[in-house]
This record gives sequence, structure tokens and C-alpha cells, in this order.
Amino acid sequence: MKVIHTVSGLNLALQSIRCKGDSIGFVPTMGALHEGHATLIRQSIAENECTVVSLFVNPTQFNNRNDLLLYPRTPEVDEQLLQELGVNILFAPSVEEVYPEPDNRVFDFGILDKVMEGRYRPGHFNGVAQVVSRLFSFVQPDKAYFGEKDFQQLSIVREMTAMLHIPVEIVGVPIVREKSGLAMSSRNQRLSLAEQEQASQIYHVLCESLQKKRDNAPHEIASWVVQEINNVPGLRVEYYEIVDGYSLQPLTTWGESDWPVGCIAVYCGEVRLIDNISYR
Ligand code: PAF
Repeated sequence: MKVIHTVSGLNLALQSIRCKGDSIGFVPTMGALHEGHATLIRQSIAENECTVVSLFVNPTQFNNRNDLLLYPRTPEVDEQLLQELGVNILFAPSVEEVYPEPDNRVFDFGILDKVMEGRYRPGHFNGVAQVVSRLFSFVQPDKAYFGEKDFQQLSIVREMTAMLHIPVEIVGVPIVREKSGLAMSSRNQRLSLAEQEQASQIYHVLCESLQKKRDNAPHEIASWVVQEINNVPGLRVEYYEIVDGYSLQPLTTWGESDWPVGCIAVYCGEVRLIDNISYR
């Protein structure tokens, strides 16, 4: 595995791969890698001749300075894991390399970034679009892999790619869960054992809510989920919304969508977790 820190170094390494006509799969990450990332990477390796993984904690997508400072960083362990997985190139740039000048672009995603995460983390998706579009321009991948845990991020990345006419196929990969049901996330590293146990209730409540679809409207189920999760000691729901999986518009009736998805953000102690479930 080549470990590269500069855009010029990356260009050089990718030149011969592009010349051969080999396909490039790309997995952007912020490090603190877990089995969810490994799943994206394995899929990229299976589908492409060359897999590039980026490891970059992007400051422009953190609307909370403390969250950025506390974001887990485990570069040596990450590098070892990527090596073992068989990644071809690890791209680990500095902030100055990615942003030699401040990125002042403001994206208009319409409603997509006004709801859910967008409402509670203003500016977050603009920062995600800034960094992902820059990384795409450096790597120029054929396919890029994103986890479905970050459901809204996946919609935004698809929209941004279409808006900027970037010729890359965006591949969404299903959520990977701990045995307990907890969706894998780098942030789980900040949970104590007791908190991990509490946080695993999120998925159990979401699964139970699927049984209620026949007899309840989306807003009734949403209220039930919020109540049940808030009843678990240590958990505090920030939002639970059942939306159309394409437009992300909240649903009033089930008939409005053939892809209803419930998206949740929950504080477990100080740690903010997200998850989602399909009611299709
Ligand atoms: O999902 C993430 O880890 C980040 O938002 C991403 C896509 C790597 C951009 O910084």
C-alpha cells in the first residue's frame, strides 16, 4: 500500500493506473476505522482494480468545535487495517493540502439539507459537499462508496455529484451493526460499556416500530419511537422523522411514498449517534 500525503504525489501514483485503464474505487473516510468502513473497502476492492482510501478529518463539516476536537483519531491502527485489507493507496492529506485557500463555495441543495441533520447541524452538509467534491477532483474515481448509515449524506453526495456533473458512480452500502444492533460508527469509541448497552436500544425500538406501521400514521410512530427511546436511561432523542427516501420530505401518510425511511439522531451521554430504518 502506498501512503501518500500530497495531491501531486497522488496524481503521480494514479497516472499509471489511469494509463492502464484500470478502474479506481474510492472510499472517503475520516479515520477511526471500523467494520463499517472495512465493508465499504472490501466492496471497492471486489469491484475495482485499484482502491484509494482517504483519511482526512474535514474541519469544514464540523459546526461544533468541540466535536471536531473530540473526533476519534487512530491513524496508526487505521493504516495497519488498510494494509491488511489490501488497499492500494492511502491518501492522508493535511488541511493545507486539501484547502490551500478557504473554500467559500455555498451549495444549494434545496430541501435536502434543511431537514434532520441539516436543521440541527447548520453548514454540515455544505462542508461535506466541499470536501467530497475536492477529494473527487483529486482521485477522479470511477466509483465511490458511502455507508447508508449517513442516509442524508448519501442523498447530498448524489445531488452534489449530479449538480457538478462529476462522472462517478455513487454506491450506497447497507449499515453494518454490532451484534447488539448498534450501528457501527467511529463515535461509538467514545461510548462507555454501559452507554453501548443503552445505545443498542435505539435499533431495537426502531425494529419494533416496523410492526406498528399497519395501524399507525407516520407521525404516531415517530412520537412512539421518541418516547420509547427517551425512556431508556442515558438516551435523549434529538429528532426522529419518517421521510420519503428520495426527497427527504416528512410523510403525513404512508401512501405518499414508496420508500419511507425513519431517520434518528440520539444523544447517548455526550455522544451524538445517528441511525435509520426503512419502512418499505
Ligand atoms: O462520512 C464521513 O466519514 C465524512 O462525512 C466524509 C464522507 C468522509 C467526508 O468528510
